[in-house]
Parts: sequence; structure tokens; C-alpha cells
Amino acid sequence: MTVAERRKPTPQAAAVPRHVAVIMDGNGRWARQRGLPRIKGHERGADSVRAAVRACRDAGVKYLTLYAFSVENWSRPRAEIAALMRLLRKFIRDNENELHENRIRLRLLGRVGDLPADVRGELRRVEQATAAYDAGHLILALSYGGRTEIAEAARRIAQEVRDGKLDPADVDEDAVARRLYLPDVPDPDLMIRTSGEMRLSNFLLWQLSYAELYVTAVLWPDFREPHFKAALEEYGRRQRRFGDVS
Ligand code: IPE
Ligand code: IPE
Ligand code: MG
Repeated sequence: MTVAERRKPTPQAAAVPRHVAVIMDGNGRWARQRGLPRIKGHERGADSVRAAVRACRDAGVKYLTLYAFSVENWSRPRAEIAALMRLLRKFIRDNENELHENRIRLRLLGRVGDLPADVRGELRRVEQATAAYDAGHLILALSYGGRTEIAEAARRIAQEVRDGKLDPADVDEDAVARRLYLPDVPDPDLMIRTSGEMRLSNFLLWQLSYAELYVTAVLWPDFREPHFKAALEEYGRRQRRFGDVS
């Protein structure tokens, strides 16, 4: 995909984003408000993931990227990390059928090799089993960091230059974009963050350059189809200019 294609706005007449990216935040606060352990918030959050996938399917959003675990999240208490990994495995098992039924392709974004072998194996298995589907793409960002992704692309470019396969004069935006984790996926049109935090937390730093941002105070475990629809409606009212004049 060239720079021009990545930047090409989804036609305003349709007003449906092609790609929605979500920072699923607020699970811990949802649990704390109820006097529950944080993991209960993560468990409830898994139901919101299912709701988001269905909302995308119904609205015609082709790509959904969910920030499930950042490279920084490895600094959390070991017990919480272990519980999240167990939950991830369970989520994949519980939802594999629905991916097949809807012909949704599962894709992984991040340093997946950092994940425990059993979780990684389960994810890779479903990734392969759904690889031929194209009705929708569910992209899970796992052990993902935007700076890490860009640094890894830079390292590959340096290696190719050293090996004489790439001329430094050819290192442009396309050259970098082609070396990111999923170069065939178009940039997000809409980025949703739940729980009210006004920050990117190292999410898709390159790809979000021209995404429309939508922040809601709703905590992720409470964020269901009506909330997703409201975000899509708000997107439909935005005017995207991409630096041009309207
Ligand atoms: C998001 O919820 C889930 C992950 C980062 C895995 P949090 O766990 O960050 O919840 P808060 O932000 O503490 O409420
Ligand atoms: C961002 O949420 C990461 C994910 C949703 C996976 P965090 O809760 O980790 O981010 P900060 O710490 O509030 O920036
Ligand atoms: Mg958080």
C-alpha cells in the first residue's frame, strides 16, 4: 500500500471507517468501583471485545485493532499478567467458532514471541486457521509498542542498507511503512479510547497520524454495541482534511 493509498480517506458518503483501533482501558477501575479484584474487570472486558467485533461486523467496519497488552504492561504484577494470559487463551478458545462463522481473520500485532508458549501457540493456530478469511480482520495488539515497532523497522532498514539491498536514498515513508508489523493493513480511520485518558500510551504511533480520535469516559467493561455505534456516528460527523483545505 503506497502513502497515497494509506492516506486516502474513506469516502465521506459512506462515512463508515474502514479501520477502527481501540485502546481498551478502564478494566481495573471498573473492578475497583465494585470492590472486586482487577481481573474481574478484565473478564468483563472480554465480553466487550465480543460486542466490538459484532458491532464492526454489523456496521461494515472491515478492520478492528484492539490494544490488549502493551510492551509496558509487562511491568504489572506477575499475578495480573498471568491472569491476563489465561484470559487471552480462554477468549481465543471461546470465540474461535464465531470467527469461522463470520469469516473473520485473526491477526497479531506486536512482539508475539514474548508471550508464554501455550498462549502463543493457541493464537498462532487460530491465526493460521482463519488466514484465508477476508470478511473482517480482528487484529490483537499483544506485547505491542509503537516505538518498538518503528525501531524494529529502522533496524531492518539498516540491515538491508548494510547488505547492499537498499539505497539510503530510497528510504522514504513507504519504505518505513512497508517494514512495520502488518504493512498490508490500512491506517486506522478512527481511534477510540475508553475510560477518559487523553493519551496514546504508545499505540500505533506511526499509523494514527491522521486518525480521528474519540475519547469516552465509559470504562471498557461497560463499552458495548450502543457505545460503539455512538463512536461511529460521531466519526460520520467529522471532517477529514488531511492537511488540505476543505
Ligand atoms: C485495560 O485496563 C486492560 C489492559 C491494559 C490489559 P486496565 O487494566 O489498564 O484498567 P485501569 O486503567 O487500571 O482502570
Ligand atoms: C494502554 O492502557 C494499554 C492497553 C489498553 C493494552 P494502560 O492502562 O496500560 O495505559 P496507561 O498506563 O494508562 O498509559
Ligand atoms: Mg489502564
